[in-house]
Amino acid sequence: MVGIRSRRSLRRLAVAGTALLYPYATLAGPVQHPGLSLPDSAAANKQAVVDIFTKSYEAYRSAAFGHDDLAPISNTSVDSRNGWGASIVDALSTMHVMGLNDYFTEGVNFASKIDFSNSQTPSTVSVFETTIRYLGGLLSAYELSGEQYPALLTKAQQLADKLAWAWVGTNDVPYGFLDFSSNTPSVSSSNIAEAGTLALEWGTLSQHTGNSTYQNLAAKSLKHIANLGSPLPGLAAQGIDPTSGQPVGSYVTWGGGSDSYFEYLIKYARLFPNEDSIYRDTWLTAVDSSIKTLLRTSTVGNHVYLADYDGSRIRHVSSHLACFHGGNWIFGGKLLNNDTIVQHALDLVDACWNTYAGTVTGIGPEAFAFISSDGNYTGSSGPSRGQQTEYQQNGFYTTTGYYILRPEVLESNFYAWRATGDTKYLDRAASAIDSFNKYLRVGVAFAGIGDVTKTSSGYYDDMESFWFAEVLKYLYLTFDDPAKISLDEYIFNTEAHPFKLPSTPSFNSAAIRANKKSFTPVSDGPLPAVSGLTSLPQFV
Ligand SMILES: *[C@@H]1O[C@H](CO)[C@@H](O)[C@H](O)[C@H]1NC(C)=O
Ligand SMILES: *[C@@H]1O[C@H](CO)[C@@H](O)[C@H](O)[C@H]1NC(C)=O
Ligand SMILES: *[C@@H]1O[C@H](CO)[C@@H](O)[C@H](O)[C@H]1NC(C)=O
Ligand SMILES: *[C@@H]1O[C@H](CO)[C@@H](O)[C@H](O)[C@H]1NC(C)=O
Repeated sequence: MVGIRSRRSLRRLAVAGTALLYPYATLAGPVQHPGLSLPDSAAANKQAVVDIFTKSYEAYRSAAFGHDDLAPISNTSVDSRNGWGASIVDALSTMHVMGLNDYFTEGVNFASKIDFSNSQTPSTVSVFETTIRYLGGLLSAYELSGEQYPALLTKAQQLADKLAWAWVGTNDVPYGFLDFSSNTPSVSSSNIAEAGTLALEWGTLSQHTGNSTYQNLAAKSLKHIANLGSPLPGLAAQGIDPTSGQPVGSYVTWGGGSDSYFEYLIKYARLFPNEDSIYRDTWLTAVDSSIKTLLRTSTVGNHVYLADYDGSRIRHVSSHLACFHGGNWIFGGKLLNNDTIVQHALDLVDACWNTYAGTVTGIGPEAFAFISSDGNYTGSSGPSRGQQTEYQQNGFYTTTGYYILRPEVLESNFYAWRATGDTKYLDRAASAIDSFNKYLRVGVAFAGIGDVTKTSSGYYDDMESFWFAEVLKYLYLTFDDPAKISLDEYIFNTEAHPFKLPSTPSFNSAAIRANKKSFTPVSDGPLPAVSGLTSLPQFV
């Protein structure tokens, strides 16, 4: 969801997006491998994930219930998402998927009473984070539970009615942050991840409420970015100015600050197949352009990475956040029956897993770099002697060593399992469970660590809500019956909240739109601002 890049090059290479024309009428190719079946060992691994969830959630309940996150080392709470109980809302869909019905019911009761009219902390409200965690969590729980808790939809609508203030005047692009007490946005740059990762949630809200305003707001921002001139075809610059709607800088990356904009292009096209083809076409152009310009093979180990591009040069860097790309390319490649894309995707999945396999903890770092036949330029100093040794062993070297409970590598591993049926992906997920139990289980629950390349490096005293929403859901689903939350029936928002796809037999969006028309709410900088890591982790 995030990342910080310095805007060193202001040179703008606006290459008009020469959209490739693809002969596909629909995005209907099955994503899952036919006849997938789980080995007997899956049941024990699935239970091991439930045990981690239960341990983590019980600790949250006893020391932090109603706050955003548990501080697992000090056994207190953290309110980094405006104090509305982020962990509860973010965990709801995972509880439902795991069949943890008592937690789910308790969580729904809590969520039904959240006061979204103001922030419970002095902080402004991130439109992006609030959309993907709270709005996504509420709407997914509403759908998964068979729409039996209308209060979840009411709360989602109350929240979106506040967030809608981020679109000022006729601007297509929302501001990134809002002051809820005055409904005024903070005037600063945003980035394409923040502005382009809203349309699945706001579109779903429109479907259920019958009010198309929500979908129109989010879609016009996504479409605006897709229509911008970009440094490379289909690959928009990371920064965007909500006031002018113009790009800021010319940094291209699949990592933080850009990542989920690319993710949502293809997902929005899948969830709303009758919308403009620009979303699908821009995703395809982005992937094609990435294969031509960004794809690199390491000189050690032949690992396949997607480099960044800073407006003039290739940077040989990647990150944990960027590692969602393998799963996203599998998803889009399968929908389009394009084996070239799927094959590159599986290579990316392998290289990202290699960053886990190559460390002493068996967990991958936040950021890493590599060397390919065209050099080792990263935008900062080249590899130190220690990093060169690491590179010779692993085919990557660590540039930022912490792990803060991020999901992306295991998310892509989950897609690779469901799309291929190759049990090596189950083995990898099982290995991650072991590593988590060995190196993250500390204090009252589980905690991020300061350096994955060391067996002892200090802990991050904040168990982020995406531990519940994403990491443990993707791990669980890897070992769960593939027919239950099938990738051909559900689509995941970037926080791993599943939404029902229109092809699901029980789901008919036209009927929902018609039925829900009468729904009435119950009551009431210089750098693109980068979401998520607004403050760097504090280690204790
Ligand atoms: C954590 O804090 C809660 C709430 O104060 C308390 O009930 C619990 O016993 C504490 N756990 C530990 C292991 O100290
Ligand atoms: C739809 O939602 C928008 C955004 O909150 C609101 O301004 C508008 O009044 C709503 N329209 C209807 C018909 O309720
Ligand atoms: C599949 O995707 C690749 C990479 O984007 C592209 O070059 C190729 O034309 C696509 N194949 C078909 C049949 O469209
Ligand atoms: C990195 O690239 C520079 C410039 O090409 C080169 O001089 C240096 O030897 C390279 N370092 C490594 C470790 O490959």
